[in-house]
Amino acid sequence: MIQPQQFSYSDKNELLFFGESLHQKLSSTEWQPVYFYSKKAVLERLKMYLGKMSEALPQGFQAHYAVKANSNPELLKLYASQGMGADVVSGGELKKALDAGIPANKIIFSGVGKTVPEVRLAIDAQICQINVESPSELLRIQKIASELGKKITVVLRVNPHVDAKTHKYISTGFRENKFGIDEDSLGECYKVIKQSPNLNLGGLSCHIGSQLLDFSAFKEALQKIKKIFNETKAQGFKLDRLDIGGGLGIVYTEDASSDLKVLESYCQIIKEELTGFDAKIQTEPGRFLIARCGVLVTQVQYIKKTPFKNFVIVDSGMNHLIRPALYEAHHRVFPTFKRSGTMKADVVGPVCESSDFFAKDREISSIDEGDWLAIADSGAYGFSMVSLYNSFALPKEIFL
Ligand code: LLP
Repeated sequence: MIQPQQFSYSDKNELLFFGESLHQKLSSTEWQPVYFYSKKAVLERLKMYLGKMSEALPQGFQAHYAVKANSNPELLKLYASQGMGADVVSGGELKKALDAGIPANKIIFSGVGKTVPEVRLAIDAQICQINVESPSELLRIQKIASELGKKITVVLRVNPHVDAKTHKYISTGFRENKFGIDEDSLGECYKVIKQSPNLNLGGLSCHIGSQLLDFSAFKEALQKIKKIFNETKAQGFKLDRLDIGGGLGIVYTEDASSDLKVLESYCQIIKEELTGFDAKIQTEPGRFLIARCGVLVTQVQYIKKTPFKNFVIVDSGMNHLIRPALYEAHHRVFPTFKRSGTMKADVVGPVCESSDFFAKDREISSIDEGDWLAIADSGAYGFSMVSLYNSFALPKEIFL
């Protein structure tokens, strides 16, 4: 079967998203910005990821979808139906994962700030593991588990001190980042675990950052964590799992067809470092699975020409997709109906901030007021990061 392209135009000049015309879905009079997700693409990408990863890890592995990327209930149900586990970072995400039918024994709880009620919820639900980010957190888990009279598996998230070479706001594996436990503090953790009948140390984890395209730091992190894994085992712990986190990126300036190469180079590192490694491998992919499967569609309200610039002012902005404002991230922009000619413009939102833009000085197909624009690759960290700033309505979410 020939896979449909992510974006193309029909002979009627209508934008096709994985083969479906967005333009035709937009006639509703009660217009508001909308995230469209392609169910077909969700399943295809998952298949591609699982297929390549299984080749790299013939001994088997379990993928835990990073719910923070997109926590739409319908999406979580779809992943649950495909046997996916979940990686959650709050009580809210944990409840969403359970409600969607993801079994508790496939849920990992990560994050640096777990509160007492959140830890209690995780232990009560008997999730797969809590990924611990500090000795203080470990003490809290120990106390709550003993109060509840329950045993829980913990995994120590190690900060491997590598430079992930990604945007500084999404880099997590360096000594200056708040994430993970420093190697020097592991001894303290071992002591707490050895003394507590309520804690089982299942293994180690690391996640060095998101939107990784250069995997040299990932390789270095795996080498470090394998060494620490063996040292921890030598302390008498029977570790059975290694969680290698998420972070697999996409090239936002290019179409989804560029992703296979990125996935293959990631898998190559995994193969080199983990072939024959004696533990169950866990992964936490987010962006790679879902970013390409969603678009944010927004309507052009005004075209404002100044002596300096053209502004295309749309009805959605940083309140609905914060990535350009927060990380100066690039998202491709496509009109849902293609007119002839091109123009150079800033595509900006209605929010009262100069950081409220989708594109700057971008050469795009000519646009008229009332046209709709699709902001590409916004399936991940799009709706999940919306805000109520300026009290605009939230976008709708529709599965194609
Ligand atoms: N596991 C842990 C422990 C994480 O912190 C993250 C992401 C993931 C897995 C999933 O990473 P992914 O495979 O999606 O790269 N809002 C930012 C991304 C923040 C990522 C935070 N942690 C963005 O829009 O680029």
